[in-house]
Amino acid sequence: MWNISKGSLTLFILQFITPPTTPYRVVATSHHAKMAIKDPKILVETPVKSEEIDIMHATSRQSTSWQGVRTAVTDGPVCTNTLIGGTPMIDVSSIFSLNKDVKIYAKCEYMNPSGSIKDRIAGFMIQAAIDSGKLKKGMTVVAATSGNTGAAIAMACAVRGLKYIVITNKKCSIEKIDSMKAYGGQVIVAKSGVPADHPEHYQNIEQTMVDRDPENLFGVNQYNNHDNALAYTKTLGPEIYTQTKGMITHFVAGSSTGGTLTGTSRYLKSKNPDIKAVIADPKGSVLWDNFVNNVPEEDLKVGKWEIEGVGKDSIPGVLSWDFVDGAQNGDDASSFFTCRKVASELGILVGGSSGLNLHAASVLSGKIKKGMIVTVLPDSGIKYLSKIFNDEWMDKKGFTGKQQKAENGQIFWKSNAK
Ligand SMILES: Cc1ncc(COP(=O)(O)O)c(C=O)c1O
Repeated sequence: MWNISKGSLTLFILQFITPPTTPYRVVATSHHAKMAIKDPKILVETPVKSEEIDIMHATSRQSTSWQGVRTAVTDGPVCTNTLIGGTPMIDVSSIFSLNKDVKIYAKCEYMNPSGSIKDRIAGFMIQAAIDSGKLKKGMTVVAATSGNTGAAIAMACAVRGLKYIVITNKKCSIEKIDSMKAYGGQVIVAKSGVPADHPEHYQNIEQTMVDRDPENLFGVNQYNNHDNALAYTKTLGPEIYTQTKGMITHFVAGSSTGGTLTGTSRYLKSKNPDIKAVIADPKGSVLWDNFVNNVPEEDLKVGKWEIEGVGKDSIPGVLSWDFVDGAQNGDDASSFFTCRKVASELGILVGGSSGLNLHAASVLSGKIKKGMIVTVLPDSGIKYLSKIFNDEWMDKKGFTGKQQKAENGQIFWKSNAK
């Protein structure tokens, strides 16, 4: 427990909250405080009707004709919320599969309205909080984020007439910081590289702010909020299952909160327990050692990586290894050059976690005899024009010429998963 009532965190937070009505008592909450949310029964209790989901099927071939762009349109005008989900799936096998008997498909999650997969969870978590009475009229929504959840929360708040404050850290690209501001709320940029239990860690700032003013602030707590994973169990999982006509054999995704991986895999495994889920984790993240080497949380050592939005410095409460079978770890350079390949060969701009996922899917395709791998393209490359797609930045960071070949990558499998 930190006791810094007159310390730097107080000053840091006070500058964003005006005017303070009472003196603040600073209690930094440990990141270890988690909810027990690993219960697969959630799925059984909340079945999904396939007709609830609006799915757009993509062609499996590259088409240069404009008619090939979209095969499903809605009948009339829609509202902002209706733009979320129902994303097309593209066939990237010809570029990324190392085996002619393995297909690789990728869900275009960057097509969600705020530019990322996080639109699926933001509205879901906010609406659940309103419906349960935890988020009341007049309260301000507070969310710690690596950037995409912040933009999605901003959008979800805008459509509901709510105020928001989002907290990110200095690793976040300027494009993401600006987009979080654009919806009219406040953005706090905390330090990056501070330990996960430090009071100035962006996740702990959310908790501290909410602890001090629970009447007026509602904390989203995406890392421990079970509605995060549930949103994927109810939308992404069913979409993937339907779009592949149940033929998916492997699901690959990176993890920050673990919502995408846990929630989607939980649905897919409920339909077919043989479907395997593989985490794509950047080198330096602690998730790898916790999953692969069973290193306990208190002994994990965090490294450095540049890919935004995936990999963690602590184990989030939403992530459940029960729904994960294997792991692949890629480096920054492989991810970023994969993004550039996707841009120049597919004409699609995606972010670093998409590059990591595609690289992992490619490695996996070389390790299995046959199958259908589905992965996600979580956000748009437009959010990283100043980084991944900027030659100067890539040179400065020393990535140029450092890409790993997918042929040389390895997959770790849980002993009962092979
Ligand atoms: C770009 C990007 N990819 C992937 C993820 C991981 O998603 P999840 O939090 O569901 O594990 C995030 C999360 O912030 C993200 O921003």
